[in-house]
Amino acid sequence: MRTEAAVLWERGKEWSVEMIELADPLQGEVRVRIEATGLCHSDAALTIGTLPSALPIVGGHEGAGVVEEIGPGVTRVRPGDHVVFSSVPSCGICPSCASGHQNQCDRLGIMGSGRQLADQTARHTARGHDLALMCLLGTFARHSVISEAQCVRVDQGIPLDRACLVSCAVITGWGAVVHASGIRPGDDVIVVGVGGVGMNAVQAARFAGARRIFAVDPVAAKRELALKCGATHVADGLDSAHGLVKAETGGRMAARVVVTMDVARGDALQPILRLTGKLGRIVLCSLAAAGPQPLTLNLFDLTMREKQIVGSLSGSANPNEEIPRLLGLYQDGYLDLDTQVSQTYRLEDINAGFRDLKGGRNLRGVVLCQS
Ligand SMILES: NC(=O)c1ccc[n+]([C@@H]2O[C@H](COP(=O)([O-])OP(=O)(O)OC[C@H]3O[C@@H](n4cnc5c(N)ncnc54)[C@H](O)[C@@H]3O)[C@@H](O)[C@H]2O)c1
Ligand SMILES: [Zn+2]
Ligand SMILES: [Zn+2]
Repeated sequence: MRTEAAVLWERGKEWSVEMIELADPLQGEVRVRIEATGLCHSDAALTIGTLPSALPIVGGHEGAGVVEEIGPGVTRVRPGDHVVFSSVPSCGICPSCASGHQNQCDRLGIMGSGRQLADQTARHTARGHDLALMCLLGTFARHSVISEAQCVRVDQGIPLDRACLVSCAVITGWGAVVHASGIRPGDDVIVVGVGGVGMNAVQAARFAGARRIFAVDPVAAKRELALKCGATHVADGLDSAHGLVKAETGGRMAARVVVTMDVARGDALQPILRLTGKLGRIVLCSLAAAGPQPLTLNLFDLTMREKQIVGSLSGSANPNEEIPRLLGLYQDGYLDLDTQVSQTYRLEDINAGFRDLKGGRNLRGVVLCQS
């Protein structure tokens, strides 16, 4: 079939919204009508080139839709099912999946190729070229063909323009606190960067029983929203946060620091280490440019105060368990997704959406792919 998609042909260029050819789903694959997709900063990293990938590529990995057709051997979903995508594949049987770390599935290794999970060939083509898919999904499109291993069936009553956020922003920010940070009730938590991902770290910290929640962001509107989402204190940068956290905690600093700023930079880590208390843990969600980063870190402080720095991918969560769980919390009013959708766009306006993201005007922009 033919469908429309946002394709990146060259780094540094904008998305080209154009007609593409979509082949039928093969073994273990499904065709999904994509209803909604969020604009995550990782897609912006793709255009800038800090996130390496094959080109040309259909962008988008934070999405939800309706299964239209299934290929042979598909057992996880049926036509008509509503699905939220997992931005990481989970085969279910590799040692990582089998030990409860689906976000680290061994199949992740083929993500960079952007080709189908099963056989590393393409179902998407345009202008005579095979197209790669961001996170093997390519949700900046009206339809996509993907592996059933990245489809999580969800309750049909949940609006898909909200559910799509759980695919990446929510699972990442929430899980960074709940799974990766080792939070205990009464801990003080700092979230550095309260955009689409960080706002969910704030919500998780509140839900998990944090005492003080410090939200750090240079954009005033994000700080205001963070206060509504459960932050108790705000600061406009790492320097001002230091004085604030020191005063409020009597110098003990924070037990958990979640880093969800737009881009991870080596020079931000030392100020973040200073915000972290004894035995405290820094959870790094933000993506840095691929490759080694120059880093100046007070290793004496790290050792003497037994601080930890850990990375976290997709909230260190098992998507097949976590996505329905988070949507259940949304349905019961514990997790706010509604105020996170600050603006919606049509697929053809996706570049305007990214300009808004980079300009700090969006919390989460959502593209309504069928409008
Ligand atoms: N680890 C994962 O699995 C995963 C998943 C999704 C996104 N990410 C990464 O997480 C990061 C956040 O993504 P997002 O979609 O929420 O981006 P976003 O643009 O919505 O939010 C980033 C926020 O950081 C703020 N910021 C910029 N500089 C700052 C600074 N010096 N101090 C504090 N805040 C600052 C911005 O104002 C913005 O509010 C990106 O690097 C993205 O690639 C990682
Ligand atoms: Zn993302
Ligand atoms: Zn696996």
